[in-house]
Amino acid sequence: MFVKKIRLKNYRIYDELELSFDRGINILSGDNAQGKTNLLEAVYYCCAGRSHRTTKDKECIYLGREEALVKILYETASGKEEQIEIHLKQNGKKSLAINGYPARRINDLFGRFHVVLFSPEDLSLIKRGPAERRKFIDMEICQVDPVYVYDLQQYYKVLRQRNQLLKDSSKNREFATFWEKIRFVRETLFAWDAQLVHYGVRVMRRRAAFVEKLMEYTAHIHETISHGTEKMLLQYENAVPMDEAQFQEILEKDLEQDLRYGTTSSGPQHDDLVILINGTDVRKFGSQGQQRTAALSLKLSELQMMKEEIGEAPVLLLDDVMSELDESRQKQLAEYVRENQTILTCTGVEDSIRSLPVGAHFHVRAGVITEVENE
Ligand SMILES: Nc1ncnc2c1ncn2[C@@H]1O[C@H](COP(=O)(O)OP(=O)(O)OP(=O)(O)O)[C@@H](O)[C@H]1O
Ligand SMILES: [Mg+2]
Repeated sequence: MFVKKIRLKNYRIYDELELSFDRGINILSGDNAQGKTNLLEAVYYCCAGRSHRTTKDKECIYLGREEALVKILYETASGKEEQIEIHLKQNGKKSLAINGYPARRINDLFGRFHVVLFSPEDLSLIKRGPAERRKFIDMEICQVDPVYVYDLQQYYKVLRQRNQLLKDSSKNREFATFWEKIRFVRETLFAWDAQLVHYGVRVMRRRAAFVEKLMEYTAHIHETISHGTEKMLLQYENAVPMDEAQFQEILEKDLEQDLRYGTTSSGPQHDDLVILINGTDVRKFGSQGQQRTAALSLKLSELQMMKEEIGEAPVLLLDDVMSELDESRQKQLAEYVRENQTILTCTGVEDSIRSLPVGAHFHVRAGVITEVENE
């Protein structure tokens, strides 16, 4: 899979941009704050239907403008050309067209255009909170499994409604006693909890299967990266049992506490991923270097796994990660860079990048891109 062309209008720092990419390695170099990450973000947008940096679509519209456009033309391994077009509006919902036809839901995007994005924040995937690791798991499954997208959305929709009811009820003073309040809430939650438990268990089972599969790749990749000195194991840490009846029981047991705090305290919204290196939890006990190596292994496993699942190489987006890695890890990453169409950003073109078979080199300056001819 490779991106042939991108067109931007009023997207972040870009007023107007039309750029053709090479099928191999593309370098975007330039000083800080010139628009390198903005361009990767736009490519990512066409894969995920949202930014990886913000949940607020409007931030992606050029300041003071009404609308933004991102249009991407890509080719699949079988040689088929496809096109994705996204319109963001200051006053209104974003809209989407696939191959020229309007699509109703953003979910229609999933499973079409595949990218793996690797940014400096990913290097701290291990040491950051569970939310980051859940996001990592969810984004990966969403790219290959539309059923999961639906289940996850339904779960969070019901969870939000449940939390709203808990919050409203916790403030409500109309009840004579707390027990009366609990009885009311229990009756109201009855139907919602059935849905919460249903979608929650589906989400957990899919996450568990994903982690198990991912580990097959991670074990091998990590062993290579650490030159055979470390064994990496992954464990999916589900916050509640993957069983509807048992999850329901926990919700009932927690009800009093949930009502006091006005939020649901148990469920897959608290899941985590445990990473063990030679038997110890690297989140808590790993050195900085071990944590980085583990993060790199996870990302490379993601890349490899996606390649096998979709049957072709996804587009690799590397946002300034080379300079963050030491020489031996840079070399490991470079192996993968050669196998995928890669768009790589950097402030300076260092030796590690110069040694790659670069297909095209672009210079980015204040939202204007110029091709750098053979250096
Ligand atoms: N909605 C927007 N409208 C106009 N300009 C924007 C908007 N959002 C961000 N910018 C500008 O884009 C620039 C940041 O671009 P970007 O994050 O792509 O930089 P970069 O080249 O990746 O830099 P670095 O090397 O520091 O990572 C900033 O100057 C910021 O002011
Ligand atoms: Mg950047």
